[in-house]
Amino acid sequence: MIAFEPLSTDERVRIIDLHPEVGDLRAEALDGLRQAEKVLPCKFFYDALGARLFEAITELPEYYPTRTELGIMSGFVHEMAESIGSHATLVEFGSGVGLKTQKLLDALVEPAGCVLIDISRGALEGSALQLADRYEMMEVVAVCADYTQPLRLPRPRRPSARTVAFFPGSTIGNFTHDEAVQFLERVAELVGQGGGLLVGIDRRKDPTIIEQAYNDSLGVTAAFNLNILRRLNETGADFDLTAFHHRAPYLADEGRIEMHLVSRVDQTVQIGEDSVGFTAGEHIVTEHSHKYDLDQFREMARAAGFRLARHWSDERDWFSVCFLEVSPS
Ligand code: AVI
Repeated sequence: MIAFEPLSTDERVRIIDLHPEVGDLRAEALDGLRQAEKVLPCKFFYDALGARLFEAITELPEYYPTRTELGIMSGFVHEMAESIGSHATLVEFGSGVGLKTQKLLDALVEPAGCVLIDISRGALEGSALQLADRYEMMEVVAVCADYTQPLRLPRPRRPSARTVAFFPGSTIGNFTHDEAVQFLERVAELVGQGGGLLVGIDRRKDPTIIEQAYNDSLGVTAAFNLNILRRLNETGADFDLTAFHHRAPYLADEGRIEMHLVSRVDQTVQIGEDSVGFTAGEHIVTEHSHKYDLDQFREMARAAGFRLARHWSDERDWFSVCFLEVSPS
C-alpha cells in the first residue's frame, strides 16, 4: 500500500474559479411566472437567510430525511468506505461539507484528495480551508462552478485509485426525472471508468409522513418557501408576503412533494417594469422533491451508465444511501 507523505500548507488547498453564471433571479422568475402553471426555480431559495432556514428545517421533528441519512451514515460508513476503497478522490457537490462528509472522510483509507464543487466562491473557500485544516494529509481542491453544467475535474497531485462523487441529502430529488438522469450521466462522465457515486435518496412511504415533513407545525418550511418572494422584492418586485400562503401536497402518481405559494386574493404584482396577475387560489410551484423506490432509482442509474452496486437503508426503509459504479463500457 502507498503511504502518503504529509503535504506542505500551500500544497493542501487549491482554488479554481471557473466563473459560473449565477443566473438572473428577476429574469428567470419572470420567465417562470409567465408559464401556464407559474413556477419559480428552487435554486433561488438559498441566499444567506434561505440557507439558515434550511438548516432549521433539518432540525425539525417532522423533517426526517437529514437525521435518517445521518443515522445510516453512522451505522454503515465503514461498509461504504470499504466499497469505495483506499486512495480514492472524493468529489462533493455543494460546499456544505457537513457531518456526513466528515464521517465519510474519517472512514476512508488514505483518500488521495477531495474536490469540492460549488457555485458560491465564498462558501467554497471557507469549506475548503476548514477541510484542509482537519485533514492534513489530504489535498483539497475547490472548484467554483455550476455542477448542473458539464465540467472537467482537476486531478489531485497524488496518485488516485478511483474517483467517487458524494451527493447526500436527497438533493437529487429536487431535479425533474429527466434532469436527474442527465445529472447522473454527467457524474458518470466526470468520475470516469472505475468511478462511483454515493448518493442519498428519499424513499416512497406513507404520504402523511412526507406531507408532515414539508408542512411543519412551526411554519419554518413556509418561511423558507416565502423567502423566495422576499428575495424577488430585493430585485424590484412588490410581492406582499402576507397575500400568499405555503402549501405542500404529495402527488402520489408522480412520487413527489410539490411546494406551492398560493395567492390568497386576486392581485397584480409589479416585478420591475413588468407585472404579473394572480387569481385567488392560483399557485406558483417553487420546488419538486421526488421520492423514489429502489427499482425505479436502479433503472434511472442504469439509464445513466451506472449500476447500483450496494445500498444501505434505515430500519423503516424511509431513506437509502446508494453506491453506484460506472458500468463497464
Ligand atoms: C434540499 N432538498 C433536498 C430539500 C428537500 O427535502 O427536497 C429542500 C427542502 N424543501 C423543503 N424542505 C426541504
